[in-house]
Amino acid sequence: MPERQERGITRRSFAGLGVAAVAAGLARPAIAQGAAVKIGLMLPFSGTFAALGENIATAFEMHLAEKGGRFGGRAVQIVRLDDESEPSKAVQNVNRLLSRDRVEALVGTVHSGVAMALVQAARERGVPLIIPNAGNVAATRELCAPLIFRTSFSNWQPAFGMGKALAAQGVKKAAWVSWDYAAGKEAGEGFRDGLKAGGAELTRELWLPFPETNFQPILAQIPGLGVEAVGSFFAGGGAVQFVRDYAAAGFRDRIPLTGSGFLTEGTLQAQGAAADGVRTALHYGDGLDNPRNRSFRTAFRDKAGRDADVYAVQGYDAAQLLAIGLDATKGDIAAERELSRAMAGARIDSPRGPFTLSPSHNPVQNIYLREAKGGENRVIGVAAEALADPGTGCRMSS
Ligand code: PHB
Repeated sequence: MPERQERGITRRSFAGLGVAAVAAGLARPAIAQGAAVKIGLMLPFSGTFAALGENIATAFEMHLAEKGGRFGGRAVQIVRLDDESEPSKAVQNVNRLLSRDRVEALVGTVHSGVAMALVQAARERGVPLIIPNAGNVAATRELCAPLIFRTSFSNWQPAFGMGKALAAQGVKKAAWVSWDYAAGKEAGEGFRDGLKAGGAELTRELWLPFPETNFQPILAQIPGLGVEAVGSFFAGGGAVQFVRDYAAAGFRDRIPLTGSGFLTEGTLQAQGAAADGVRTALHYGDGLDNPRNRSFRTAFRDKAGRDADVYAVQGYDAAQLLAIGLDATKGDIAAERELSRAMAGARIDSPRGPFTLSPSHNPVQNIYLREAKGGENRVIGVAAEALADPGTGCRMSS
């Protein structure tokens, strides 16, 4: 079992899951009055997902400011680190936050491959982790752990909703197009499962490497695929380009483009008319008519000077979840069992609507069907209600 020396005490795993607990018999260090708890925000601030990371961080900090800069009565200090959505640098970046900056909890990241290094650190070093975007299913399936939480989605969830909605509309055969990495693959599985649940079929899959944006070879194949719709996973800068290129290719009216809602999230201004009519499924929509969403969107616009999107919502909710945990422990981040219990049982008052966490700490949430129109993702229905990730392989005891 991994052990580590920190702040003069030995911490070791509990429940055999690689999560550290204060060793029995040793007193916890008193929380120095006024000493800030350091939280590492490891996110992409450059590259194709830069805008996503920026919105997550801005909304996280917005909630912290709403709470007077304190969670659980304890001052919070944020350390930002740009992970560039670069898996080859992920382990080093996590170590930088933990060893150089001495952060006591991690919030990150956007890219599923990079998130694996955070999950590994959380399991091996007993550091609380909140994932505010990356949907890699392993984090809340076989690698689930008492201190790992997600406020976003599993890659499977939105795409499952989209597949199900297409089948309900009478589509019988669809294709999947994406980047060839964890998020694209796992979303493809959700899409396939959703189609299948409605009696339809995924008949073709087309891939390109992340973060490639030369879509022409793929677009050239689409008219010959014999499908009635295309599902896709792209996000950020890549999604802007794909939606534009799909519209320019000229067969959008014959073979509708759909996908996980990231395809049109935070991208509509840049996509312009090319996105009009594109239907996607996601756990959020701009115009969701609840008071929490309205006040959140106003506050975010005032702070950031731009509109909120799903990434901002997820960052905001990551801060809300951590605040709930630290409220329960009166600011003691090392009170792991209590922190874990409070967060696992949280009901988050989210702009997406209230949500709870599954036993593997992934949101149970509505997946909305949206249609992009005039620069907005309008909610036109519910594709899957109170949808939980299958959570297969998660064995957690604490
Ligand atoms: C992921 O890599 O898990 C990912 C990235 C961007 C998104 C959604 C998921 O918008």
